[in-house]
Amino acid sequence: MALQTIVDVESAVARLRAGGLVALPTETVYGLAGDASSEDAVARIFAAKARPAAHPVIVHLPSVSAARSWASHVPSWAVALMETFWPGPLTVVVPKAPAVLDVVTGGQPTVGLRVPAHPMTLQVLEEFSGGLAAPSANRFGTVSPTTAVHVVAGLGGVLDPERDAVLDGGPCPVGVESTIVGAWDDAPRLLRPGAVTADQISAVTGREVCTQTEGVRTPGSTATHYAPRARVVLVEADQVDKAATTANGQRVALLALRDVDGPPDLPRLAEPADADEYAQVLYSALRTADDSGVDLVLAVLPAPAGLGMAIRDRLRRCADGAAR
Ligand code: TXA
Ligand code: MG
Repeated sequence: MALQTIVDVESAVARLRAGGLVALPTETVYGLAGDASSEDAVARIFAAKARPAAHPVIVHLPSVSAARSWASHVPSWAVALMETFWPGPLTVVVPKAPAVLDVVTGGQPTVGLRVPAHPMTLQVLEEFSGGLAAPSANRFGTVSPTTAVHVVAGLGGVLDPERDAVLDGGPCPVGVESTIVGAWDDAPRLLRPGAVTADQISAVTGREVCTQTEGVRTPGSTATHYAPRARVVLVEADQVDKAATTANGQRVALLALRDVDGPPDLPRLAEPADADEYAQVLYSALRTADDSGVDLVLAVLPAPAGLGMAIRDRLRRCADGAAR
C-alpha cells in the first residue's frame, strides 16, 4: 500500500487524533504534522525525517489565544507581532509553558509557535483543537517540499500508509519557510529570514531587530540544511557567461531572475519575474535540477530586499563553500 494523498480535512484530523502523521499544506512549505502533546507522535516525526533529536520543532496553532497556553510569558511586543502577522509566515520563539514536551523544544526553555495561513490547515488546527508539531515535510538536510508530490517523493517510503497521509492543498504560495523571531527578552531577534521582513517587525514592535544571533542555538541554521544533490555555485549577474564556459563538460543550469542574461544555450531552471516569484519556485527549481541530472547550478542572488533576504539565506546555505 502506498502513502495516500487525501483532500479532506476530516480524514486528516482523524489520523492526527489516532497518533498518525499528516503532511499539511501551509503558505510557506508543507509541514509533517503530529500531535505536539504526544511524545510518541513527535518521536515518529523525528524518525521519519531522520532529524537529530536536539532540533526543536515548531508548534502550529489555530489562533493567537491558543498560543498563550504554550508559552509561560509572551512579551507585549511579541503579542503585537502575532496579532499583526498571524495567520501568516511568522514563527515566534517564546519561553515555553511547563507542560511543553522536551521532544518538541529539543530540551530548550523556549518553544516556536506559528499560526499558518492555509485555509485547509487552519481548519485542521481548529478541529484538532490542540497544537501540531510540524517541521518541514522532508528528510533532514534535503530541500523543503512545496507540493504534495514533493512530500510523497521524499517521505513516501518512510511514512506508514496505514496511519499517515499527505493532505493536498496545492502548491505553497510563499515557497520558503517562515520568518523566525526570538521573543524571550526585550529585543526581537531575527533567527531565520522569511516573508515577514526585519523592517516589518521593527515597524510593528517599535524596536530595533537584532540580527546578530551568535550564541543563540538555532539548529536549522546549519549549513547544507536546504541542499539539493547538484552543486550550487553563487555567481554575480555579469559573470554568468564566464562561469558557464568554465564548467568543463558538466551539465549546467541557471537559477536567476528573468532579467538576468545568460548564454542562450544555458538551460534556466525557472524564470521568476521578481523576488516573490523567485521564492515561490526556488525549491521546485532545485528539485528540477536534481531530477534532470544537472551537476552544477549557477545561482544569481536577488537584491537583499523583501523575500530576497530569505532567498539569499537559503541559497547561501546550499552553495559551494558552505561548511559541510
Ligand atoms: O514555514 C515554516 O516554518 C515551516 C512550516 C511547515 O510551518 N516549518 C519549518 O520547520 O520550517 P523546520 O522544523 O523545518 O524549521 C524550524 C526551525 C528550525 O531551524 C528550528 O531550529 C527552529 O525553527 N526552532 C524551532 N523551535 C525553536 C526554538 N525553541 N528555539 C530556536 N529555534 C527554534
Ligand atoms: Mg526544515
